[in-house]
Amino acid sequence: MVIACDTLLLLTVGPTVSKRCLKEEGHVARVTVIGTGYVGLVSGVCLANSGHDVTCVDIDPAKVAQLTSGRSTIYEPGIEELLVAGLANGTLRFTTPSDGWAPLIGDITFVAVGTPMAANGAADLSQVRAVVADLAAAADRPFILVMKSTVPPGTGATVKSRNLSDAAVPIAYVSNPEFLREGHAVADWYHTDRIVLGSDDSSALAAVCELYADIDAPILETDTASAETIKYASNAFLSTKISFINEIANLCDAIGADIDSVSTGIGMDTRIGPAFLKAGIGYGGSCFPKDTRALDFIATLNGYQFTLLKSVIEVNNRQRLLPVIHLARAIPDLHERTVAVLGLSFKPDTDDVREAPAVDIVPLLAEGGANVVVYDPIAAHIPLEDATRVATVWEALDGASAAIVTTEWPEFRDLDWARARSMMHDPALVYDGRNCLDGDTLRAAGIEYMAVGRQGAHRASI
Ligand SMILES: NC(=O)c1ccc[n+]([C@@H]2O[C@H](COP(=O)([O-])OP(=O)(O)OC[C@H]3O[C@@H](n4cnc5c(N)ncnc54)[C@H](O)[C@@H]3O)[C@@H](O)[C@H]2O)c1
Repeated sequence: MVIACDTLLLLTVGPTVSKRCLKEEGHVARVTVIGTGYVGLVSGVCLANSGHDVTCVDIDPAKVAQLTSGRSTIYEPGIEELLVAGLANGTLRFTTPSDGWAPLIGDITFVAVGTPMAANGAADLSQVRAVVADLAAAADRPFILVMKSTVPPGTGATVKSRNLSDAAVPIAYVSNPEFLREGHAVADWYHTDRIVLGSDDSSALAAVCELYADIDAPILETDTASAETIKYASNAFLSTKISFINEIANLCDAIGADIDSVSTGIGMDTRIGPAFLKAGIGYGGSCFPKDTRALDFIATLNGYQFTLLKSVIEVNNRQRLLPVIHLARAIPDLHERTVAVLGLSFKPDTDDVREAPAVDIVPLLAEGGANVVVYDPIAAHIPLEDATRVATVWEALDGASAAIVTTEWPEFRDLDWARARSMMHDPALVYDGRNCLDGDTLRAAGIEYMAVGRQGAHRASI
């Protein structure tokens, strides 16, 4: 098999950046994706859609059964159509490893299991370790192991020395971190800014490169530790932008400036760019919180105090408490009132509630004695103690003295706020935790509007 990467080299020293790979005519790879969560499922259905022969493996039999029946286990625009198409044309299948790993191992086998945050802030690699050990023990022919899970720098080296070097057959290792955004995951797969591949095995790199031949994105080839670090550094940088603009928003509240104008003015500088400069109650989700904590842990473990990153994390932890702090100040008898929490997922277009600010805000309000009513248009299946779940935004607002917008769902932006006011009790305060509402419209409706660093909003400095 001859595989060639385009020779457009943008750098002569260090990593190799190629425009894209050349695909051998009619080449179809036999691919396995282990873990069918947000990343594994998107990877599996998209690789199948590119014509590869894909087997997705998950230890959760209920997930496997649901996916086999053509129903997506996650809410993600576009995914169910690709899932159904892949199942129908035979390029995609789902299974558990209950009959042993050996027959499931593909020529290229992706690991996309979870790496959640451990209690000490480190990445919990137990799922990755278990899968890698199983694969190394079961392999009866050479294959390429591609690490798509986000794993700390140094993990690839450890996996190679602890597991792969003792295997009965050669197993090549490629780090291939994933950068997709939940809510845009399928689009991001096909229109990514870059594909990062890290390995010391050039033929394995070339084979994985070819897998992405139909994706028009630059491919950065580097060593394994650098690829691992790129993933953490990217998430740390984006988190830094968010915490930075939130600090500026809090300052705007204190001095009377307007964060919307300020962030627009900053973002017009092409050296800075407008992305991730929206002030609010901070970042959440399954990546930024755990990846910033894990990077800080790794830095500390290696004797380096990453002061900037520690501040980013601290700012974010405080930012998500702002709605509770300000509501308690504005409504002294909050413990006797009903508060509507609008949105549970950490951002729109996903049902993922991992580390979502609402998940911290709801119990805090409830502990304070408030009657908490929660509405989310999609993340409706998540069990919640301490709060009442309702099926419509109107049920949530009916009789509420205050509402907190915790997720920027379009439904809240476009809501009939005059109708909302007519259902709410005084003081009818809305805390716009995402700076996504039109303050003038709410004020005209008789609502007391609070936001994060916005001029004209009820001032709230801490
Ligand atoms: N979610 C994102 O937006 C995103 C983006 C980029 C990178 N990542 C990274 O990708 C990785 C996966 O994230 P996710 O959000 O998809 O996780 P997830 O928790 O949604 O899914 C993990 C899946 O792996 C399965 N699994 C666990 N152990 C297994 C085993 N031994 N064999 C087979 N299946 C097993 C679980 O049942 C689950 O379905 C993480 O490292 C994460 O940091 C996530």
